[in-house]
Amino acid sequence: MLVWLLPGLRRKPGGSPDVLTMHFKTHIQNLPAYKPTKLIVQQSAGITKLSSNENPLGPSPLALAALGEALAQVHRYPDAQAVALRAAIGQRYQLPLEAVMCSNGSDELILLLCLAMLEAGDDVVMAQGTFISYYLRTLEMAARPVRVPLQDYRHDLAALANAITPQTRMVFVCNPNNPTGTSNGTAELRAFLERVPDNILVVLDEAYIEFVNRPDFPDLLPDLRAGRPNLLLLRTFAKIHGLAGLRLGYALGAPTLVSYLEKARPTFNVNLLAQVAGLAALKTRNTWPAAKDTPMPAGPTSSASYAARYRADQQRDQLCGLRRGRRCGDQRRPARAGLQRYTAERLGIARPDSCLFRHNGTK
Ligand SMILES: Cc1ncc(COP(=O)(O)O)c(C=O)c1O
Repeated sequence: MLVWLLPGLRRKPGGSPDVLTMHFKTHIQNLPAYKPTKLIVQQSAGITKLSSNENPLGPSPLALAALGEALAQVHRYPDAQAVALRAAIGQRYQLPLEAVMCSNGSDELILLLCLAMLEAGDDVVMAQGTFISYYLRTLEMAARPVRVPLQDYRHDLAALANAITPQTRMVFVCNPNNPTGTSNGTAELRAFLERVPDNILVVLDEAYIEFVNRPDFPDLLPDLRAGRPNLLLLRTFAKIHGLAGLRLGYALGAPTLVSYLEKARPTFNVNLLAQVAGLAALKTRNTWPAAKDTPMPAGPTSSASYAARYRADQQRDQLCGLRRGRRCGDQRRPARAGLQRYTAERLGIARPDSCLFRHNGTK
């Protein structure tokens, strides 16, 4: 209503009510439109959205109990600094509170990183065939995603290092990778880190680290404890703790780096219930499957058999996706169905036969 009182803000006489005459940044206008995933009615406990790698075992029971008590407090604002939660996370990883930043899901951290670090025209190096947020958030800043093909469904770390130029500000490495479920080991990751100049940030997205049982999986916490300045680890409560709906993620990095990211974050980005649930969930062991006392999924476990199944899925989905010609960002979507199923099974999040899986009408 106020719009009609302010000169200059009036709708043009006779203009269509749904046509915007306001200015939007060109690179935002050019972003691919957000397409929500198909609505799946999730009342039944047996239904898990593999496209989001949800935890089929439900939320952490300790978190649920704590939430019950906290509900009566939601008239209050949350602690804007999330001190108790950050301290508890820091304690778990033997890092100071200042080395921990909490967020509205780890997805928000990707946005805040791009917001804080990227100018128009900067380069961000990432894999082609990894979590799509790195790509979209980079475009949102009018920066340039430099995408390096996967090799055998894994990050090609040597090629990622080769792609770094003076324009590069950040490199994203998703380990284990979503959506392929593959990982990179310590030796190759350390060789990669050696090659990245100090003024370029390496963002290691470890959303699925708790599901890994590979003995040589990289542990970079000692690097952070030693004060490595250009490394940030992203983690989430959405997967292992089953708190996706509450939106809670965190970053671990050098205190100075974290202090700059903190400047970019909305004051109350982590809501009160998320803080309470996160604190409670931290009291459980965060390893899979011990966290839930549930056996690992049955079925093939060797990477060769997963890869074979993945390729078969991919071929079928390519046919089905290409027929529909659907696009996601500038990536063809055909392989998504197979990739998502492959990731969830590979990481042990889902059993092939326990989840309803729908994509492009397939089951
Ligand atoms: C690799 C990766 N990073 C980050 C996220 C975002 O997680 P969150 O729910 O904490 O925002 C996801 C979610 O699927 C993911 O797969």
